[in-house]
Amino acid sequence: MKTRKNGKSLLKVMVVLSVLTASLLLLSYYEARTLPDMTLNPDNADIVQRGNALYGQYCVSCHGENLEGQKNWQDKKPFERWRAPPLDASGRAWQHGDKTLFMMTKFGVHALEGKGTLNSDMPAFEGTLEDEEIAAVLSYIKSTWPQSNAEKAEASSEPD
Ligand code: HEC
Repeated sequence: MKTRKNGKSLLKVMVVLSVLTASLLLLSYYEARTLPDMTLNPDNADIVQRGNALYGQYCVSCHGENLEGQKNWQDKKPFERWRAPPLDASGRAWQHGDKTLFMMTKFGVHALEGKGTLNSDMPAFEGTLEDEEIAAVLSYIKSTWPQSNAEKAEASSEPD
């Protein structure tokens, strides 16, 4: 009697475990399919070249021929909205990690606060650019930043 009961609970545990494993597998498969690859490749010449061309098509009108941004970009007046900042090493974009840059470009600069493009003139490129195109254009931008900036960015994200 006792062994039969034990056998049954063992079966139950095994069923529960296999259901759990199956759901975990399904979940990771789903995540792998839905989460884009947000890694930037500033060292890959082909990707950077493609990104440069995309920059000329989609970003240059606001961020400038040499990634210099718009005049007086640090001043909100008289529009009460930020003008396009430089995307070269003189701006602040280099302080963001790959994922942040990707999210800002795809869903709007305030994506990480859940506010998308609210009160911002920076468009969201979801629906305009494919995920690899967003990664390529950002890889190009990142390729213009000196290596020392990457080190500074890492240092600044550390708690004081
Ligand atoms: C219509 C003008 C416009 C276009 C086109 C545009 N941007 Fe922007 N971008 C802005 C403005 C304005 C801001 C600042 C927005 C704010 O802070 O509200 C900004 C901010 C950004 C930032 C954040 C920079 C920082 O210092 O935090 C990134 C990154 C960025 N843009 C990337 C891009 C990329 C990549 C493209 C092309 C695919 C692009 N932008 C096209 C206007 C534009």
